[in-house]
Amino acid sequence: MKIDVLTLFPAMFAGPLDESIVKRARQAGLLDLRIHNLREYAHDRHKTVDDRPFGGGPGMLLKPEPIFEAVESLAREQTRVILLSPAGRVFNQAIARELALIDELLLVSGHYEGFDERIREQLADDELSMGDFVLTNGALPAMVIIDAVTRLLPGALGDEESAHEESFSHGLLEYPQYTRPAEFRGMKVPEVLLSGHHAEIAKWRTEQSRRRTAERRPDLL
Ligand SMILES: C[S@@+](CC[C@H](N)C(=O)[O-])C[C@H]1O[C@@H](n2cnc3c(N)ncnc32)[C@H](O)[C@@H]1O
Repeated sequence: MKIDVLTLFPAMFAGPLDESIVKRARQAGLLDLRIHNLREYAHDRHKTVDDRPFGGGPGMLLKPEPIFEAVESLAREQTRVILLSPAGRVFNQAIARELALIDELLLVSGHYEGFDERIREQLADDELSMGDFVLTNGALPAMVIIDAVTRLLPGALGDEESAHEESFSHGLLEYPQYTRPAEFRGMKVPEVLLSGHHAEIAKWRTEQSRRRTAERRPDLL
């Protein structure tokens, strides 16, 4: 899979995407990740990427010209161009699974007051939000999407890190899990998990998943 990111803050991407599963996926050639500085596509002396909104109002908007030029040079016919925006559909595991099936993504990260509307209308195939809050720019949302999508790529997770049983994989939250010791400060691991009885363990886990989801996220049921 190839993911391009267009951002004003390429330095923010160093670190989070050079660790753990994303690092391994990049090294293994499962993910080809390229970070592009939007300013490279601004051609005036000051490399201007923003301007004041017509009609007045606070803040600055990202201008169309640099973003159009960048997207037209980076995206191919099959690339899914995604704007990061609080006005997008809210990202979740189902969307991560959907994106993991696509070969090429271009994530366009905003800043200031956001994008000139023509960028939305003409360039974006999709708009994704992290939730009902406002961040300073789209770099963190882009990293969240890259992380969530990369771990779903076939071969990205080792045997010990399965994506099959975790939260949201069956529309439910994950059941409680325990490791050694079987008793810690008087707190005991549920007997059934020590029983070796696989059918009983599976039943208990399903019940616990349902109970936890009903208590914490009834909207998922
Ligand atoms: C300060 S925000 C702009 C907010 C915009 N004025 C609005 O009210 O929707 C700057 C940029 O950060 C990113 N951003 C902020 N919050 C986000 C969120 N919840 N999800 C995705 N991207 C977000 C977007 O790329 C956005 O263009």
